[in-house]
Amino acid sequence: MPESRFTLDDRLPAGYFTDSLHSDVRKGLTDPPRSLPPKWFYDKRGSDLFEEITRLPEYYPTRAEQEILTRRAPEIAAVTRPSTLIELGSGSSRKTRTLLDALTAGGSLVRYAPLDVSAAALAEAGEAICRDYPGLTVSATVADFEGGLPLSDEPGPRLLAFLGSTIGNFDAAQRRAFYRTLALSLSSDDVLLLGADLVKDPDVLVRAYDDSRGVTADFNKNVLHVLNRELGADFDPGAFDHVALWNADEERVEMRLRSRTAQTVKIPDLDLSLDLAAGEDLRTELSCKFRRESLTAELHEGGFTVRQWWTDQDDRFALLLVVPN
Ligand code: AVJ
Repeated sequence: MPESRFTLDDRLPAGYFTDSLHSDVRKGLTDPPRSLPPKWFYDKRGSDLFEEITRLPEYYPTRAEQEILTRRAPEIAAVTRPSTLIELGSGSSRKTRTLLDALTAGGSLVRYAPLDVSAAALAEAGEAICRDYPGLTVSATVADFEGGLPLSDEPGPRLLAFLGSTIGNFDAAQRRAFYRTLALSLSSDDVLLLGADLVKDPDVLVRAYDDSRGVTADFNKNVLHVLNRELGADFDPGAFDHVALWNADEERVEMRLRSRTAQTVKIPDLDLSLDLAAGEDLRTELSCKFRRESLTAELHEGGFTVRQWWTDQDDRFALLLVVPN
């Protein structure tokens, strides 16, 4: 019997979901300003809503990044010639196909290694890619790379893709920690392919996170459904307004859920009762926007050199090839 080309390795510690959800929610909602980490958006419904967001007319980042990838994939393949493509936070792996097409055509690629916290997303995307790329081994890993990158020490070079400007969900301190983790995990011949959304007209930015059809509002409020289901909480999503604002000092879009009235929310699994004031915000996501100079500088401080900086025709989004110093 032929060996399966698809493996799924679960590296999450036992009880990971419950433990980290409990501590994140307790910590985030107890001391002000109240916040929730964005990773809890992505249950099945949240992932579907995000897919819908990527097709909205106002949400340009996915299309802008796809435009750059389509144009530059052959060049990426030619200069990196990787044996393995590792993808962080791969989700549905849709954009990955553009890369995989170029990398398999280039002839160097033997393995695709997606990494995500969702085993379901990895199984679905991994099996589809296995089917469509018959020469490829797919080694999926369920992991939370906050605590370190579980990379195998196979022969390189490896291309590590972190797309979609997911790096924008990290504040400056979290990005520094991420670069440290990367610097420890990558070898000198590995290359990082990084997608980063750029600073632009605040109206364009805010519309991308507050679309006219209300899909982003539903996505934002979905985190309350997650807490209701997983922690027995009694959030009424209708008692919150979706807010997307441009924080000009920090150069980031912030998504918030604003309590419409003074209300008390019970979270039985945490023995927690929250008194929310009318107009009080729960901060649910940061989406930092970048500039070429400052992103290049912080990567350099983190131990990396920017080799290529590509943008789409309208200069909305950047795709970077980055190497360890
Ligand atoms: C997938 C985290 C990059 O911040 O733009 C989309 C998520 N949030 N609309 C982003 C998101 C609201 C997205 N990232």
